[in-house]
Amino acid sequence: MKAEMEALRQRACAQISAATDEPTLQQVRVTFLGKKGELTAILRGMKDLTAQERPVIGALANTVRAELETQLASRLAELKAQALAARLATERLDITLPGKPARRGHLHPLTRVNRLIQDVFMKMGYTVADGPEIESDYYNFQCLNFPPDHPARDMQDSFYITDSILLRTHTSPVQARTMQAHEPNTPIRIISPGKVFRWDYDATHSPVFHQVEGLLIDRQIAFSDLKGTIEHFCREIFGADTKVRFRASFFPFTEPSAEVDILFRTRHTRGGAVDTQDNWLEILGCGMVHPNVLRLNGYDPDVMNGFAFGMGVERIAMLLYGIDDLRLFYENDLRFLAQF
Ligand code: PHE
Repeated sequence: MKAEMEALRQRACAQISAATDEPTLQQVRVTFLGKKGELTAILRGMKDLTAQERPVIGALANTVRAELETQLASRLAELKAQALAARLATERLDITLPGKPARRGHLHPLTRVNRLIQDVFMKMGYTVADGPEIESDYYNFQCLNFPPDHPARDMQDSFYITDSILLRTHTSPVQARTMQAHEPNTPIRIISPGKVFRWDYDATHSPVFHQVEGLLIDRQIAFSDLKGTIEHFCREIFGADTKVRFRASFFPFTEPSAEVDILFRTRHTRGGAVDTQDNWLEILGCGMVHPNVLRLNGYDPDVMNGFAFGMGVERIAMLLYGIDDLRLFYENDLRFLAQF
């Protein structure tokens, strides 16, 4: 019986060390120590032993059982450690690898230019005023000294909603709204950026575009104040040596009126040769606020006067960035937008 037990111990030990995964090890346990296992079978046979042999064999059986339990436990721990090591080797995370870069967006070029323009005027003490895009004929034209049926209305092909309501054709109605919102004869210094709408569509005209309006009202404002302000603005945006030209013009709401051009250098590269060409390019309209406009909006032209200007943001952005088709701004093509 002793020999049988020893043989069993050796077979069990061999199978335990040979087991390479947990289910196999579990199977070995059942084979030897389970209810119907081999060691259990031997113990069951003890009833046939003599009273002398029984305690000796019983003690031996307990020793063998304990030894097998220990071996099973340590083999199990070994297998678990091996499995963990294998997982760590294959599932290793290399935290030194560079991350996936997040794609960063940026402001639309028109927004950038709009902010550049606003910054220049805010440094000169202007505040920003706002007005509606759907406007009445009253504010868009009448308050600005456009009489009904005046031919100057045709300069701005309009989108009418009803006979008296339209999409504003310029930001100038904010001039009238601002004057009317102030106590009569109080000084004003505002700019008003926003969308405007005209019935036009080609490489340099879009039915929706952006303007920045400016209005300054005070006492004894001279044309030279307007000129200095506009020249300062042009040099801030286009560079300190920018040449600026005032050309006489007409707007119903300013008198005298002017259009302002800057001398702009365009570079063409043709087969390696660089061609530069200087052109006067119009960037804004301006003038001294017409006395009728002051009167129509509650100001006394004998006490107060001022100047106004209005510029196209797209035009300025095109010059700044060398863009020759304004429609590019609205196509949302990332190949274009990513260049700014
Ligand atoms: N509102 C004019 C336009 O859109 C521009 C302008 C504004 C001219 C203010 C003079 C004074 O053409």
